[in-house]
Amino acid sequence: MRLFIDTANIDHIKEVYSLGIISGVTTNPSLYSKEGGDFKSSIAEIASIVDGPISAEAVSLTRDGIVQEGRELAAIAPNIVIKIPMMEEGLAATKILNSEGIKVNMTLIFSANQALLAAQVGAAYVSPFIGRLDDIGHDGVEILDSIVSIYDIYGINTEIISASIRHPLHVIQSALAGADIATVPYSILKAMVKHPLTDTGIKKFLEDWKTLQETASSMK
Ligand code: E4P
Repeated sequence: MRLFIDTANIDHIKEVYSLGIISGVTTNPSLYSKEGGDFKSSIAEIASIVDGPISAEAVSLTRDGIVQEGRELAAIAPNIVIKIPMMEEGLAATKILNSEGIKVNMTLIFSANQALLAAQVGAAYVSPFIGRLDDIGHDGVEILDSIVSIYDIYGINTEIISASIRHPLHVIQSALAGADIATVPYSILKAMVKHPLTDTGIKKFLEDWKTLQETASSMK
């Protein structure tokens, strides 16, 4: 399972990309509004930093409006993917953009039926929001699991991005369910690196190394 970062924060993107752990970025209007600034320049900057798919969300509500926005966003850089919400106008727009070779990430997916529809219109990616399902007492991972099974049975090529990740366990559950990608907030990527036994292990190795050096130098 590949990892994307779910943020529009340039510093966070640069930091985790330099670690080599992410291969794409997802953004949404709420994430842009946290950062401020000009949306298109920010998307262009992200696309120039990360050599991988960068999802930029269309905000129009009509088919033609979404298609227009999608074409404009796709023209910014070859690695831009248009994020389009699951709705009838979004499905129609995805079909058109797909026929033009523009990749779409269908977002706000909360059911296996929605994921099945996204695949019909040629979405390159679907983003089931597992955390928001958990928030309302549903089992987000169970829905993700159903989508993976259905796509496997029919050999559907649409890639599944596990989204709305709330904690490190969600990342493990997404991988076990067979998601192609998990898009993970910065703080959770950082938390994934850490384990208390790793920290105490590093400390002990360094202490023992120091003891060895001191013993060696006292024998000279
Ligand atoms: C995914 O593409 C979305 O940007 C994101 O994962 C939404 O997560 P949230 O439910 O934490 O807002």
